Order: sequence, then structure tokens, then C-alpha cells
Amino acid sequence: MAETHEILKALNWRYATKQFDTSKKLSDGQVSFLKETLRLSASSFGFQPWKFLFITDSELRKRLRTKAFNQTQVEEASHLIVLCRQEKLTSADVDKLISATSSATGAPEDSLAGFKNVLSGFVSGLSQEKAEVWCEKQVYIALGSLLTAAARAGIDACPMEGFERPGFDEVLGLEKKGLRSVVLCTVGIRSEGDKYATRAKVRYPLADVVETI
Ligand SMILES: Cc1cc2nc3c(=O)[nH]c(=O)nc-3n(C[C@H](O)[C@H](O)[C@H](O)COP(=O)(O)O)c2cc1C
Repeated sequence: MAETHEILKALNWRYATKQFDTSKKLSDGQVSFLKETLRLSASSFGFQPWKFLFITDSELRKRLRTKAFNQTQVEEASHLIVLCRQEKLTSADVDKLISATSSATGAPEDSLAGFKNVLSGFVSGLSQEKAEVWCEKQVYIALGSLLTAAARAGIDACPMEGFERPGFDEVLGLEKKGLRSVVLCTVGIRSEGDKYATRAKVRYPLADVVETI
């Protein structure tokens, strides 16, 4: 396990990278690592209502940049990750999770009837609108895991909400896949010329953001 000071050092080292070094690509090992951190992310009930698209195709990224207020990272980072949510949450997701839980834990599906009831009740109680918001929240948890893990591994990243979701959905054909884009994360290696790397971190004092009751 990493020591706490190493994690804090990494969190101070990271910043929302504006300029990536276009000559440096992440290794296959680094990309696999990022994928695995996304896969291992926590989600409410363990529903994992997401898909993470790693976009490497340069033509596609050029098009996507035009739907992201021309932000350079979309095209210039080593990889562009589009974090997507499922369009819907249905009883099929309940069945999938029960089956996966049974396989992973060895518990017979019958013994998971209580859990299944809870999941079914949760899903049927969500309006489509609420399900969308809930799925988005789960995706943001994965983004947080990704940012922390990337920092710890010395990989630069920029989380990005500055893009047109409908435009991304259209270019990537997400509707057909039952997905919707939520947030982006560009990853790679910072350019030496990125002045944001040395800018002071702006964070409120601990007493402002944490209260022990
Ligand atoms: C969800 C989210 C969306 C963001 N969207 C953008 C973006 O579109 N473009 C950008 O350059 N930075 C974006 N940022 C970076 C933030 O501006 C940055 O994280 C914040 O100012 C704190 O600075 P630091 O991350 O460098 O410590 C985003 C950050 C988050 C968490």
C-alpha cells in the first residue's frame, strides 16, 4: 500500500493539464492501468452503469475537438477518455448484477433474492430523469478514482466538462449503443511549456471544507 504522504504528494503534483506533450504517448501498460482503475471504481449498489471509451483515432479526435470548444487537450493528449453513462437502468441491469454477484462470490442466485428485491425496488422507483442523474453521479465517482490513480502513477490528466454532449453522442454513435456522454478525461504527459503546472493550487483551508462533529 502506498504511504499517505506519497498520495498527498501526487495530489499536489497533479493539475488539470492544459497542454500535453504531443510527442509522448502513454505506454500500453499505463493505459491498461487506467482502464483497470476505472473498472474497479465503486458505484452505488455496484451497478456500474457506465462505459469508458478510449479514443485514439486522430480523425475522430479532430472532429470531437470542434464539439469541445476547440480545447486542445481533446486532440493533443495521448488518450481521450469519454466517460459515458447508460441511457437507462432496467430490470436487465438487475439480472446482470445478480448473475455477476453469484459468479464472483459463489453464492447461488436463489440466496441473493433479498438483494435482488432491493435492487428491483430501487430501479422501478426511479423515473427516467432520476435514473439519468443517478447514473451520471456514478460516472463522476469513476472520474475521481481515475484522477487519483493517474496522479499516483505520474500520469497527467485533465477532467473536462467543456464539451457539447449531444455533439459527442452523435459523432460517437452513442445512442445506438444505449449510452450518453457525461464527462471527458484527457490523459498523457504534460508539456514542459504548460504554465498551469506551476500555478499555485487554489484550495480552501481545511477548516472551511471539513467539519468534525
Ligand atoms: C468535472 C470537471 C470538469 C472540468 N472541465 C474542464 C474543462 O473543460 N477544461 C479545462 O481546461 N479544465 C476543466 N476542469 C479543470 C478544473 O478547472 C480544475 O480541476 C480546477 O480549476 C482545479 O485545478 P487543478 O485541478 O489544476 O488543481 C474541470 C474539472 C472538473 C473536476
